[in-house]
Amino acid sequence: MSPVPPLDPCDFTVFGGTGDLALRKLLPALYHRDRDGQLADGTRIIGVSRAEVDDDGYRDEVRAALTTFIEAGDWDEAVVDRLLGRLHHVTLDALDPADWPRLHDRLKDGAASDAVVRVFYLAVAPALFGEICQHLEETGLVDERARVVLEKPIGSDLASARAINDAVGRVFDEQQIFRIDHYLGKESVQNLLVTRFANIFLEPLMNSHWVDHVQITVAESLGVGERGGYYDHAGALRDMVQNHLLQLLCLVAMEPPAYVDRETVRDEKLKVLQALRPMTPACVDRDTVAGQYDAGLVDGAAVPSYAEDLGHPGSTTETFVALKTEVQNWRWAGVPFYLRTGKRMDRRVSEIIVVFKDPPHAMFPHSEGSTEANRLHIRVQPDEGMQLHFTAKEPGPGGIRLRPVSLDLNYADTFGRPSPDAYERLLMDVVRGNPTLFMRRDEVEAAWAWVEPILARWTQTPHRPRRYPAGTAGPTAAATLLERDGRSWQENDT
Ligand code: BG6
Repeated sequence: MSPVPPLDPCDFTVFGGTGDLALRKLLPALYHRDRDGQLADGTRIIGVSRAEVDDDGYRDEVRAALTTFIEAGDWDEAVVDRLLGRLHHVTLDALDPADWPRLHDRLKDGAASDAVVRVFYLAVAPALFGEICQHLEETGLVDERARVVLEKPIGSDLASARAINDAVGRVFDEQQIFRIDHYLGKESVQNLLVTRFANIFLEPLMNSHWVDHVQITVAESLGVGERGGYYDHAGALRDMVQNHLLQLLCLVAMEPPAYVDRETVRDEKLKVLQALRPMTPACVDRDTVAGQYDAGLVDGAAVPSYAEDLGHPGSTTETFVALKTEVQNWRWAGVPFYLRTGKRMDRRVSEIIVVFKDPPHAMFPHSEGSTEANRLHIRVQPDEGMQLHFTAKEPGPGGIRLRPVSLDLNYADTFGRPSPDAYERLLMDVVRGNPTLFMRRDEVEAAWAWVEPILARWTQTPHRPRRYPAGTAGPTAAATLLERDGRSWQENDT
């Protein structure tokens, strides 16, 4: 493994420091980076929350979380102790100005140097983003080395996203604002750009001449669990499509920039978002499907319906979306992009499948066997990797028998280790000040502008999501969306 150079010392402040995201994702990610020697001496991690705990109490809480979320084989007691030694807790009600001097004093007291990088990670409700930023400024904690990290959702529609961006933008320059879409930190997602643009064989095929259609699926077998309060106001379109699925679509469809830097990739992604076919009311009625899970069986175990998970019936929030769109530009015009995502589906998988057209002429009309369309299958998770499906001759005498076969690249096998969690890369990019893998303001707003007509149409029409039993591939209407075009979802495409 190549050595990982340590970064500048940093004060990493997490608002929502005792929350689920901090304990489940952020602190384990920092543990792994510390283990690889990437956190410089003097780096401090300051959890901020309303909880009345002191540093030691917080360290106990974090140790318990690390025990749960770090694999036993990755556990290194010395690193755990080192990480816990960096930890502090500040009890603070973000809305109470009287509390803020405590954070100020803690950050000023014992900082590694005056030039320390200050990261403020807002793992709290977006309604607090603006106010926290304002207090940070009033408390004198924002200088040119400060950065703020915003967890999604950035708003619930275009207007609220703009209001948040305005409020945060009054305090921080765009270069200091890191809007997380953790899908961009996944190794297989970053590799999509490398596969497309560091190789010659694929790119000539990635256009409407050769591609029949593209499928993007992010399916989860889990339900909403404890997150019903948030989720019921969001739904799958806001929670997953507006960000993760559209970002994946952008990376599949974007043009190659002349070089990769903090702006060029984001410029190209923005152009894709701006080229998406606008969702008119007729398009929404024809090309979108909303679903909600009923009780069912997942991995052989009975699971409750969404209404039961929520604790009350009558919600029309969608836990599943399938839709068809098109990137209206020279490269992609006429190529359907089918997107779907859902909770409580039959499997957990995130994948992109590029389905190529049939050869122009069938040269083996009298052959036995079968053929399938050529496909490039990018497995984002689990089992990150890539498969190329094509047709081969089955060995043996007596005529030609055609067989679908595949070339299979599995990252873990090829590189000899599992990929790091997306947050590890993203958190270190924040400290480095590299925003390439974060969503720029114009991207977030363009994505909302495209999604908003779907939300509007769904609220205008008597909209009830179609029910699907938990543990299935979603409502049958999602299958019909492709069947009417003579296509089908590539299920279990291995
Ligand atoms: C989050 C959504 O952004 O992504 C969750 O809010 C979802 O609802 C999660 O479960 C999926 O992430 P991953 O990395 O597990 O695919």
